[in-house]
Amino acid sequence: MSLFTELTGQGLDFLSSLFIFMVGLVVLFAILIFISDVSQTKDAIRRNYPVIGRFRYIFTTLGEFFRQYFFAMDREEMPFNRAELEWVNKSSRGIDNTMAFGSTKNISPTGTPLFINTPFPTLDEHATSSPAVVIGPHCREPYEANSVINISGMSYGALSKPAVRALSKGAKLAGCWMNTGEGGLSEHHLEGGCDLVMQIGTAKYGVRNAEGKLDNDKLKEIASLPQLKMFEIKMSQGAKPGKGGILPGAKVTSEIAKIRGIAKGKDSISPNRHPEISNIKELLDFIKHIREVTGKPTGFKAVIGSDDWLKKLCEEIQKCGIESAPDFITIDSCDGGTGAAPMPLMDDVGLPIKESLPMVVDILMQYGLRERVKIIASGKLITPSGVAWALCSGADFITSARGFMFSLGCIQAMKCNKNTCPTGITTHDKHLQKGLNVEEKSVRVKNFANKIHYGIGLISHSCGVKHPRELSRHHCRIVQSDGKSIALDVLYPQPEVLEKYK
Ligand SMILES: Cc1cc2nc3c(=O)[nH]c(=O)nc-3n(C[C@H](O)[C@H](O)[C@H](O)COP(=O)(O)O)c2cc1C
Repeated sequence: MSLFTELTGQGLDFLSSLFIFMVGLVVLFAILIFISDVSQTKDAIRRNYPVIGRFRYIFTTLGEFFRQYFFAMDREEMPFNRAELEWVNKSSRGIDNTMAFGSTKNISPTGTPLFINTPFPTLDEHATSSPAVVIGPHCREPYEANSVINISGMSYGALSKPAVRALSKGAKLAGCWMNTGEGGLSEHHLEGGCDLVMQIGTAKYGVRNAEGKLDNDKLKEIASLPQLKMFEIKMSQGAKPGKGGILPGAKVTSEIAKIRGIAKGKDSISPNRHPEISNIKELLDFIKHIREVTGKPTGFKAVIGSDDWLKKLCEEIQKCGIESAPDFITIDSCDGGTGAAPMPLMDDVGLPIKESLPMVVDILMQYGLRERVKIIASGKLITPSGVAWALCSGADFITSARGFMFSLGCIQAMKCNKNTCPTGITTHDKHLQKGLNVEEKSVRVKNFANKIHYGIGLISHSCGVKHPRELSRHHCRIVQSDGKSIALDVLYPQPEVLEKYK
């Protein structure tokens, strides 16, 4: 027998032994899983269908991935579809986002906004940029805000350090404000030098004393920073009205614990409302207090459920004098985003911005407060069409959280509550954060804001106005269930100011 034949024979022997060994291992593994499945009592599927029952969980997990990448159509995925994500992605990267052949958007669904072009669009040389708007004219330090689009509240804690740093630098480049979210103010928010809105959540993170109550000295100290332009009292947020912030213990690092004034590594759950605000009078008192201590515009953020309390609020403001009004109201949509929230609140409570924005605008108008109280709208307004609709409906400013997350590279992996965000945006895992380059991503934040301004400019000029702030209800129609569209000013006619408040 030749040496070659002998070696081949030995090789085949080895491979067949290895094969039998591997099969044995798989069988042994299956037997162990079988024993584990039939002897456990927690899971009925695994107990009744040992071993193969596990494939259900594997396929459920893989299904999410396959649907996202292979099966979901461009306009199907939720909360944001691929076409929207692609638009933000390309805008942020500064690459061409013009489209070819024709729109893939289905414009038939009820509620779709369509903008009313004029036969004589505004000539480019007649177009102007949107003028600045002054918020809080009665404060010691009113805020003159330029940008129509701004960064909505997301706390340092829900967001990673590089994400906060990139947003801060990006906001400075874009000339917009950044809201700190309810997790307190950190050096990372200040780093880029942008305008900041500090949010005061129900746990008063960053401005609380040892008992968790508002600490006026800390508030005054923060307010003395020139970068701090406004204070926002968080009453509720669209994704979880009636529930306080939730930061899982895995995300409470020692730095975050220090900034917030809480224990490291433990779940951080805020009260489900401000303990000191249980009625309209107390809300106005709290706003007045914050404004007096800080000297800066103060307003509140809420998801709207009904209009009756807003009418009572306006009556009370008129009784106390219009100086007592909140300088702004941020209206969040019930389908807003969050770091973590329970599903019943996320899915089923509160009104969408499509309904609540015109409602709040009209109430302020009826009570003669529309000029006094500025309106900030948020909730899936991440493309020029969404932002232009909000301007038509009466918003003064738009804020976005997830739009800016997408500009940082978010892929909608839906893991903000897990500390395993694959793009490093909502995780404190240093390894995952490596993918988020602060300098590069800050430019993307700026690009995204610029593309929104550019896009709403295009829509405005097509409608025949000089700049986006001139858009009003007669520039937008809403598709109805019969397929026809009706102008916003017919659906929501401008209300008369009530006789008493003229
Ligand atoms: C990761 C994450 C963290 C958030 N943290 C806060 C917060 O601290 N305070 C708050 O009022 N809203 C918070 N929000 C809600 C946003 O500020 C915003 O109101 C909501 O997501 C709607 O805007 P969007 O549709 O553009 O995301 C958070 C949202 C996300 C996605």
